[in-house]
Amino acid sequence: MKVIIMAGGQGTRFWPWSVKKKPKQFMSLNSSRTMIQETYERFSTWLPPEKIYVITTKEYLGLVAQQLPQLSPDQIIIEPARKDTAPCVALASLYFIEKGENEVLVFTPSDHYISDTEVLFNTLKSAEKVAEIGNSIVTLGIKPEKPDTGYGYISASKENTIDSNVLKISEFIEKPEIETAKKLLENKNVYWNSGLFIGKPSTIEYFMKKYQKNIWDTLKDSTDLVKAYSTLPKLSIDYAILEKADEIYTIPTELSWDDLGTWRSLEHFYNKDSDQNIKIGNVKTICTNNCLIVSEICPTLVLGVKDIIIVLTDDGLLVCHKSLEQEIKKLINMEGEK
Ligand code: GDD
Ligand code: MG
Repeated sequence: MKVIIMAGGQGTRFWPWSVKKKPKQFMSLNSSRTMIQETYERFSTWLPPEKIYVITTKEYLGLVAQQLPQLSPDQIIIEPARKDTAPCVALASLYFIEKGENEVLVFTPSDHYISDTEVLFNTLKSAEKVAEIGNSIVTLGIKPEKPDTGYGYISASKENTIDSNVLKISEFIEKPEIETAKKLLENKNVYWNSGLFIGKPSTIEYFMKKYQKNIWDTLKDSTDLVKAYSTLPKLSIDYAILEKADEIYTIPTELSWDDLGTWRSLEHFYNKDSDQNIKIGNVKTICTNNCLIVSEICPTLVLGVKDIIIVLTDDGLLVCHKSLEQEIKKLINMEGEK
């Protein structure tokens, strides 16, 4: 088994702390190490170092090399541009296929919080066994806490399962609308997609050829990767394959996990004051409730507001109602990359 750390995303929902020149996987949150360093170290306690790879875009190669100097050049797969995870997963799989290797790959995000690594590793061992058979992709399912629109939803079926721990997915819905998310939660066999998934390079090839032939053929036949990449769509693996494919499984896990996807995930790490506010930096409040206020550069006074996220860094100012934090991504994409 090899681990591929995907580290080319932009972490836009954490703007203006996570910005294009230094996205959140290269920053630290409540730790002395950055998120990508934590991810690497998590797996290096379990697998030999030569089994751990990073895939990132060209612009972050310097940050990866600086933060993970232990990686040899052939352990860093470089994408010429950011095209989301479908091209990223295809390129990584091709990389091994071209070397004649077909060992099971664990694709993992680079910016998640996971505390109980034993549970993670045991689940991955079970996933590996399933991924070795035929063309199966295995995801890790997390018990959902609320109808959050930032996740993929897995609807699992008890029929056709491999065993009671490995459920066949009957439907995968990436980032549903809030009403759909609420409906999905009424079913007890529904899980959040953790973002980690497991499959052989040849399995990725099989599904890419079936559902994303253009991406696969463009990369496989390319003599100029920069040119080839520029023609590819921006598409995540969730929409590209997981929503479409049939032989997809999930292992429900009790992992203590957080995808640290949005500002509100800080609520797990910081204590609230008596008015339910989290204040980071030089922040003072009056008549202010349930707000998250981060001010890195200057004293900040907040009066008479509630349920608001306010973040001030050298790179920008965010003022956002808590119910709209998923929309930060859309606004940044509309405005052009910062
Ligand atoms: N190399 C590379 N290239 N990595 C990328 C790219 C890219 O173009 N785009 C994103 N990534 C990396 C990110 O850095 C992150 O570590 C991981 O891939 C997932 O990307 P996100 O952009 O964070 O995805 P998401 O959080 O919106 O959604 C995914 O994760 C959720 C759980 O956190 C989906 O898989 C959801 O279904 C899932 O619930
Ligand atoms: Mg994410």
